[in-house]
Formats: sequence, structure tokens, C-alpha cells
Amino acid sequence: MISVEGVSRGYDDGARGTVRVLDGVKLEVAKGEFVAIVGRSGTGKSTLLHVLGGLDTGFTGEVTVAGTKLSKLKDGALSRFRNESVGFVFQSFHLVQGLSALENVMLPAAFAAGEGGGEAQAREALTRVGLGDKALRLPSQLSGGERQRVAIARALFNRPQVLLCDEPTGNLDAQTADEVIALFKSLNAQGLTIIAVTHEDRLREAAGRVVSLTDGRLST
Ligand SMILES: Nc1ncnc2c1ncn2[C@@H]1O[C@H](COP(=O)(O)OP(=O)(O)OP(=O)(O)O)[C@@H](O)[C@H]1O
Ligand SMILES: [Mg+2]
Repeated sequence: MISVEGVSRGYDDGARGTVRVLDGVKLEVAKGEFVAIVGRSGTGKSTLLHVLGGLDTGFTGEVTVAGTKLSKLKDGALSRFRNESVGFVFQSFHLVQGLSALENVMLPAAFAAGEGGGEAQAREALTRVGLGDKALRLPSQLSGGERQRVAIARALFNRPQVLLCDEPTGNLDAQTADEVIALFKSLNAQGLTIIAVTHEDRLREAAGRVVSLTDGRLST
């Protein structure tokens, strides 16, 4: 499902020259796996996730995700890949405050040319995360865990094959985090491939495999 081979990513750091954040990363993830990525702050975990999701194209090396080789994609194909093949979940939920849960979930449809409104699909995604009955609430009328579940429903809206999560429980208290982790486990049991960057022990335990990013490389 995911194949990463010899991937490096550096940033120009003025006087210090180029700083290599990723340095020959190798990773193979099979369909249906649930992988946690751990590592100290600043080691490049978010950078790696952005590469996997087609948000960062400034890397060298080979990256294939859900059958798409990212290295040589043109802009149009890249945005189609981002919209259709992967779903993103972030630490802060990035919901639009003035829109209902349902409308927030439907946002990806607004970016997909030629698509209908997708309301039925959005309702289905909200039902999948257990919020079918709160579709018309505004984010301000939802708890933190519910907001993150709306964000997960939005990530699932286009039925991606892979869910990429960056500290998805980082803004949640322990009990609420557990609910979100249980949701990830159930989505994974339904066949969704999940990659989650995390500092959270329980999310790490929920994953079938943990890989650690140190000095620009992944190890098990
Ligand atoms: N746009 C950028 N320009 C320059 N340096 C950057 C840029 N984005 C990230 N970096 C640097 O790359 C390194 C890795 O950043 P990244 O956000 O991937 O770390 P992380 O492992 O996700 O950290 P955290 O656990 O704190 O979220 C950091 O040293 C950061 O300062
Ligand atoms: Mg990060």
C-alpha cells in the first residue's frame, strides 16, 4: 500500500546550509496495516507524513502510495491523489466554525470538480464515526472528541485507502483520546490502512507496528 525507498528531505537553513531532516528513509506498509510513527520533537515525523500525503514534494527518493508514484506527479494529478487516495487528520481539528458538522465533512466535495454535493456520502461518513445524530451541530456545539471525529469523517469522505494522522489525540484528554483510538481500531478492522504520528502510549499500543524516526531514518 505504501512503499518509501531512499527518501531524503532537507531544508535550507541560511548560514547552516541545508539541514537534512529525512535521510534515506525506507518504509513498507501493507494494505490494512496500522502503523505508529514515534520520535522526538523535530525529527521529521510531520515532514514524512506530508511526503506520504503529497503535501510536500521537495523530497528525493521513491514514494508510492495506493498505487500512485508520487515522485513525478504533475500538479493536477497530485491534487487528485490528495483528494481521493489519502485522508488527513491533524492535531488541531481544522473545522470551519460557521459550518455544521455535515457541511464540514462535505468540504472535500467542494474542491472536487464535477462532483455533486455529496450530502448522502457525508452523512454516511458521520455515521461511520458515530455522529450520525449530530450532523447539524456547529463545531462550537460539539466536544473536543466529537470535533476530532468530524475531522475524521471529513478525512473519510472520499473513501481514501489510507488515513494519515499527525498527533490525532494531541489535543484530547485521556478518556476522549481513548474514544478516538477505539474509532481508529474499528476503521482499521474494516480494512483502512492507518499511519499515525504520535506521542501517546495508548495510540502506539493500538497500532500493529511501531516505527521510530531517529536521525532522519526509520527503525523498528
Ligand atoms: N518549512 C520548513 N523550513 C525549514 N525547516 C523546517 C520546515 N518545516 C520543518 N522544518 C524543520 O524540520 C525539522 C522537522 O520538522 P517536523 O515538523 O517534521 O518535526 P516533527 O517530528 O513533526 O516534530 P514535532 O514532534 O514537534 O511535531 C525541524 O527541525 C523543523 O524545524
Ligand atoms: Mg510534527
